[in-house]
Amino acid sequence: MYNGRRIIASLVIFVAILTLPFFYNRDKANKGPEINLNTPSIQQLAVKQCIEPTEYMRANHMQLLNQWRDAAVRYGKTEYINSQGKSFKISIQTCLNCHSDPALNTSDQFCVSCHKYAAVKPNCWSCHFEPKGTTK
Ligand code: HEC
Ligand code: HEC
Ligand code: HEC
Repeated sequence: MYNGRRIIASLVIFVAILTLPFFYNRDKANKGPEINLNTPSIQQLAVKQCIEPTEYMRANHMQLLNQWRDAAVRYGKTEYINSQGKSFKISIQTCLNCHSDPALNTSDQFCVSCHKYAAVKPNCWSCHFEPKGTTK
């Protein structure tokens, strides 16, 4: 009644189809976003570092920006002193001075590209200038 070979053959095909997406995506899944840290301003830095240590920035840049906004908008502060005593002007534009690259399209820019990958949509760009290239 049952055709054993056919059942096994269809099982093999079934498993193959089921796992195909996994193998197909294996390399893609770990690739991460394209983060361009080679902008003209960063190239000019003697020491390639962000406002705070990279690990901290990766995890906490949103909080830092919120602090900056409150400091600027509520308390009129214009200067941020980092953990090493270095001074930065409080403005989103300060980030973009280092992190935007005129040679890239908007969607390839540092902030945008990583947020797209992480599916985060900060609403900042509805009022603030979006990081974008100037040559396009
Ligand atoms: C509804 C419009 C609006 C949105 C949305 C918005 N902002 Fe602002 N933001 C402003 C205005 C207006 C100022 C005051 C500008 C000034 O004083 O020159 C400001 C100032 C700031 C400042 C200090 C000054 C400067 O030039 O950067 C920071 C930092 C800031 N916002 C961060 C953010 C961040 C981060 C987001 C997203 C999470 C955001 N803002 C979203 C309107 C907005
Ligand atoms: C003086 C130039 C400069 C300024 C200003 C600056 N950055 Fe950076 N940022 C860098 C450099 C250089 C790195 C890479 C450091 C490294 O290689 O470890 C970096 C790294 C980062 C990273 C981590 C990227 C990764 O590899 O995951 C984030 C997030 C970041 N910056 C966000 C910001 C934000 C938000 C601001 C504004 C509040 C800002 N940066 C301002 C130069 C700057
Ligand atoms: C390495 C990847 C990466 C880079 C580069 C990056 N971000 Fe983010 N950002 C994230 C992630 C992930 C979140 C969401 C974190 C969470 O929800 O806890 C986020 C959240 C934010 C938020 C809060 C959004 C919200 O709705 O709460 C702001 C504001 C923000 N990023 C601004 C920036 C700016 C400005 C830059 C460029 C100067 C930047 N980010 C670069 C990964 C990145």
